[in-house]
Amino acid sequence: MQTITCVEDLRAIYKTRVPKMFIDYAESGSYSEQTLHWNREDLQKIKLKQKILTDVSKRDTKTTIAGKPVNVPLVLAPVGLCGMQHANGEILAAKAAAEAGIPFTLSTMSVCSIEDVASETGKPFWFQLYVMKDREFIRNLIARAAAAKCSALVLTVDLQILAQRHRDIKNGLTVPPKMKLANILDIMTKPRWAMGILGTKRRSFGNLVGHVKGLTNTGSLGAWTAEQFDPALNWEDVKWIRKLWKGKLIIKGIMEVSDARLALKHGADGIVVSNHGGRQLDGAPSSISALPKIVDAIGDKTEILFDGGVRTGQDLMRAIALGAKGALIGRAFIYGLGANGQEGVKTVIECIRKELDMSMALCGVNKISDIDESVLAD
Ligand code: GLV
Repeated sequence: MQTITCVEDLRAIYKTRVPKMFIDYAESGSYSEQTLHWNREDLQKIKLKQKILTDVSKRDTKTTIAGKPVNVPLVLAPVGLCGMQHANGEILAAKAAAEAGIPFTLSTMSVCSIEDVASETGKPFWFQLYVMKDREFIRNLIARAAAAKCSALVLTVDLQILAQRHRDIKNGLTVPPKMKLANILDIMTKPRWAMGILGTKRRSFGNLVGHVKGLTNTGSLGAWTAEQFDPALNWEDVKWIRKLWKGKLIIKGIMEVSDARLALKHGADGIVVSNHGGRQLDGAPSSISALPKIVDAIGDKTEILFDGGVRTGQDLMRAIALGAKGALIGRAFIYGLGANGQEGVKTVIECIRKELDMSMALCGVNKISDIDESVLAD
């Protein structure tokens, strides 16, 4: 394999190894993809301030997130269908995260199940919850996450209705992929991927199959979420979930101060400022532009995490400078996973850690807690 120096290198390899329909799923935003684009654009506009002749010989990227030590303030975001990007994808990513000393978040819509990831990794991970109409299933799902000793529950609140991603519809995205001609021709050019998927038993939505009544084949993601996800979800349900889940509760998908305050009022231990990677409300502002006002309003009362466009340690530095305790990466780790499995995910985390460390040095800071607005240039 060629020399990898950054996440973009892994992305280039990813594009040659993973079937098009799963690349499109990961990379798409909703509708005209304005918000997807603004997430990256606004992050990259933030300038860092050089600071010279400061002793930066004692740099340390360690900190805590959700009360636990981390080697770098990063979390692997919940990503649906991760096990279609690479065979056993969730297990491999969870192992890479554990080795790198950061949390991994398992999506409700994962291919490997909670129990499977817990038994294969033996390490705590976070579990992300989507709320379905069948509340018995949800009660049970929360109990399963507790039984698997998940260390945080991440409640996603911006996707009770799936916004349209044009390419998923055009590709007829299903799990596992339908064997139509275009897919077969594409998969024939991705033999590593195909061998992996053929060699694993994990090829459907592991948390759902056998648990959701009447569910045998999940078919298209769009049709399934439209049928099962509960569009009536509201703050009363958050109260119910808060009672059921005794551990850390992190509410993900907050863009407004008023919602951030409500999250606190309903017992959230942390929030993620996020627009779902530009995959939901197209036309919404970038998540980095929403971060400062939320930090101003409630930053002294709770832990604020951030996601939306982080590909480098410089991006991570920017988010922390604006008040985030850390950032979640989704697409960035998927590039590593699709390119090179567990090693690829480890490389992504290590690239970002090294870039953060170097940015700290050149901005004259030694500790994560010293990264604040003073590292930003006008
Ligand atoms: C699900 O979380 C998605 O964004 O597809």
